[in-house]
Formats: sequence, C-alpha cells, structure tokens
Amino acid sequence: MNESFSSMLPSLIRGLYVNAAGKPFAVVSGGVLSPSVPKEVLSINIEKFDRTDEIDEQALAAFFSGQFSALNTDASDGKITLPSCIAVGLHDNEKALFWVDEDIDGARRRMNEKDASPLLVENLTVKKFHATANARSSVVKNKIALVTGGAQGFGEEIVRGLAGSGALVFIADINLAGAEKLAGIINTEEGRTAALAVAVNVSDETSVREMFTYVEKTAGGLDLCISNAGVLRAGSVLEQDLKDFEFVTNINYTGFFIISKFAGLLFRRQHRTAPNWKTDIIQINSKSGLEGSNKNGAYAGGKFGGIGLVASFALELISYNIKVNAVCPGNLLDGPLWSDPERGLFVQYLKSGKVPGAKTVADVKAFYEAKVPMKRGCTGPDVMRAVFYIVEQEYETGQAIPVTGGQVMLH
Ligand SMILES: NC(=O)c1ccc[n+]([C@@H]2O[C@H](COP(=O)([O-])OP(=O)(O)OC[C@H]3O[C@@H](n4cnc5c(N)ncnc54)[C@H](O)[C@@H]3O)[C@@H](O)[C@H]2O)c1
Repeated sequence: MNESFSSMLPSLIRGLYVNAAGKPFAVVSGGVLSPSVPKEVLSINIEKFDRTDEIDEQALAAFFSGQFSALNTDASDGKITLPSCIAVGLHDNEKALFWVDEDIDGARRRMNEKDASPLLVENLTVKKFHATANARSSVVKNKIALVTGGAQGFGEEIVRGLAGSGALVFIADINLAGAEKLAGIINTEEGRTAALAVAVNVSDETSVREMFTYVEKTAGGLDLCISNAGVLRAGSVLEQDLKDFEFVTNINYTGFFIISKFAGLLFRRQHRTAPNWKTDIIQINSKSGLEGSNKNGAYAGGKFGGIGLVASFALELISYNIKVNAVCPGNLLDGPLWSDPERGLFVQYLKSGKVPGAKTVADVKAFYEAKVPMKRGCTGPDVMRAVFYIVEQEYETGQAIPVTGGQVMLH
C-alpha cells in the first residue's frame, strides 16, 4: 500500500472509535487479511482514491465514517459494540489490518492472538459530564500523550503523573537512553505498557516529523502533546555569544513551533473522523515567560515568545477542537537543573558569588525559597494539577497558567 496513504490511516481510524464512544482508544497496525483472521473484521476497500499521491483527506475521512457508522450497534445499557479489527485495502490490494482496543496492551494482544471479537465499551457520548473535579486525573485515562524532554526534570514528573493516572505516554527526548530507562521503570511499576520511549530533537523538523509518524503508527494517534523540552544558558546581553542565544532560542522557541506544527497536523487528521473530540497542546513555559530575568534574556525572551505562539496557535487551531495553553511553573528547586551536585544552578551560583553572603549550596537554595510567598520551590504535582485542569477544562484556550507559589501574580 502507498506509504503516505497508509501513514494517515491510523489516526483516521482512531478518530472513528473516539467519535463513536467519546473516549480514547489505541490502534495498532499489523498483519494482512488472510483466512486465518476471524470473520468479524470490518473490511473496507477503497476504490475511489485512484491518485494516492494526491489524497483528499477530507473525502477519505467522510468515506471511512460512512463505512463505520453502519456497523456500530448501541447496546441497551449505555454501552456500544464496535469492531475490534479493520482491514483496509486500496484497489483490492492486500488488506492491511488495524487492531483496536481501549489501551495499547489490549490492541497488541488482539493482534498477537488474532482476536477480532467485537469490542463492547461504555458509550460516553451520551454522558453530559465527562469528568468531575473530584476525578480530575481520570481525564487522561487511556489517553495517548507525548512529553518532549520527558527523560528528566519537570518532563519526568509529568510523564510519571500522566502514566500514574492511566495514560499511555511517549517519552520523547534527545536522550533516548534516559527515556528508555524511565519507560522501563514506569512500565514495571504500573504493570502495563504505560510509557514508550522515542528519540527526538525538537529543534529539527525532520526529527519531529518522524517522531509523530512513529507515534501514529505505534498507537494510532494522540490526545495530549506536552512541549516541555527546554534549555537554559544564562548570559548578559553585553557578553552572550550569538551561538548561545540561538541555541536556547532554537530549542525553547522554534522547537515549540515545530512540535505544535506536527502535533497540529496529526490532531487535525484525527478531528476529521472525531469532530467533537478535544485535544490539547500544552507548552511548559516558565515564570520567566511572565516577567524579565536578569542576565537571562535568551531564556526569558523565548518564553515570552512562547506565550505569543500559544495565543496565536490557539486562535487558529480551535477550529479543529485543538486547545493550546501554557503552564508557567516557578523554579523546580529539587530537580536536576538546580540541584545537580556538579552542574546544578545552586553550585554554579555559589561558585560565581551570585547570591551575596552564601557560603553553602543550602544558603543559595534558602535564598531562592525566600523569594516565593509560599516559601518553597515548585514540584511535579503542582504542575500536574495545572495540566489536569487544562485537559479537563473544555471552555478555555490560549491561556498561560502561573504555578509559582505566588511569586508571579498576573495583573
Ligand atoms: N527547572 C526549573 O526550575 C524550571 C522552571 C520553570 C520552567 N521550566 C521549564 O520546564 C521545562 C523542563 O525543564 P527542566 O528544568 O526539567 O530541564 P532539564 O534540563 O532537567 O530536562 C530537560 C530535558 O529535555 C531534554 N532535551 C534537551 N534538549 C532537547 C531537544 N533539543 N530535543 C528533545 N529533548 C531535549 C533533555 O535531554 C532533558 O531530558 C523547560 O521548558 C524549562 O524551561 C523549568
């Protein structure tokens, strides 16, 4: 089957399920239709699209929706029956199989056991309220999420928070070994496939494109994209090298554009078969995106710019039900950026004498804690509460939410 054509099928198929039941699913691609595959498979033959290099995505989505809706059957007890395997062929070519279940382990099991028995799932499209504030973390259950820079620091905290709340999380990091190690630990702790590692350099467009293709192929699509990867190289405007300024800008600012572009394309495709489903792009910004940071202009400038991108992308992407928001955390004083015993900012600031009178790392830390009205650094759970709020809140987009213990107050 034509590669560009088949690469867009998983998200269109996933959208059909999401739309029918109002909840997330995993779609795994694998195998071809043969006599050994049970007969319950929904078989779709596409004859209409003879120029596969110029596919009309919209028409393809409508075609799929038509084939699918005839086969859904609503069970009486608020449940819905859906096919668990779809076979798609182009011009009677060999038909490629797509296996579907509520989570990736279920979909993979079906593929391995060739179990195409129908899926009977709760139909949430009939429920008026999707979640309550009491169960805020349940808003990500079985959702597919991606966290850039997820191997350590805030990213790791977010990956753990999402995985612990039932999501499947792609840990997307330039440090693949670190991402793989973390995925292994989380999967053992959770006793399921809760995290998968994928390599990416967020400042490289080809790398980001390939990453999203991999995500779609592996799990069928995405619900939540968290752009967290970020770097810091402090320096005076009078002294900083242009290459350091550009290094920070390429990852923190341009990287967010590239991630939003390819997440947006994937979300838009899914939207064509799941028009009511809301998806999220969340940028992990900073308190330095809300107020200037002395001798740290590359970082603060890129973060301020990020909020401009968030607001602008939000205006455009809401037509596809994609919300775009930012979380602006205060300092993660216990994370590696600050507390690493060799390269952390506390050690650096102690050596450079940035904090007057400080004699130990603990003195430097106390100085930064004292700046916060709530007298402590920001933590992973603080950020997770904001992430859950954004995902749950269906009536907001284009916002920047401070999580700074009162250190930065919006005017
Ligand atoms: N640490 C803080 O105090 C703090 C405060 C506010 C906001 N933030 C923001 O939180 C985010 C995470 O910061 P952190 O302190 O946890 O950072 P960190 O340095 O601890 O971790 C950053 C992660 O991003 C990865 N990464 C770096 N460059 C990448 C690239 N080009 N492509 C893909 N991955 C890349 C790294 O490998 C690492 O795993 C950043 O956007 C940062 O600006 C941090």
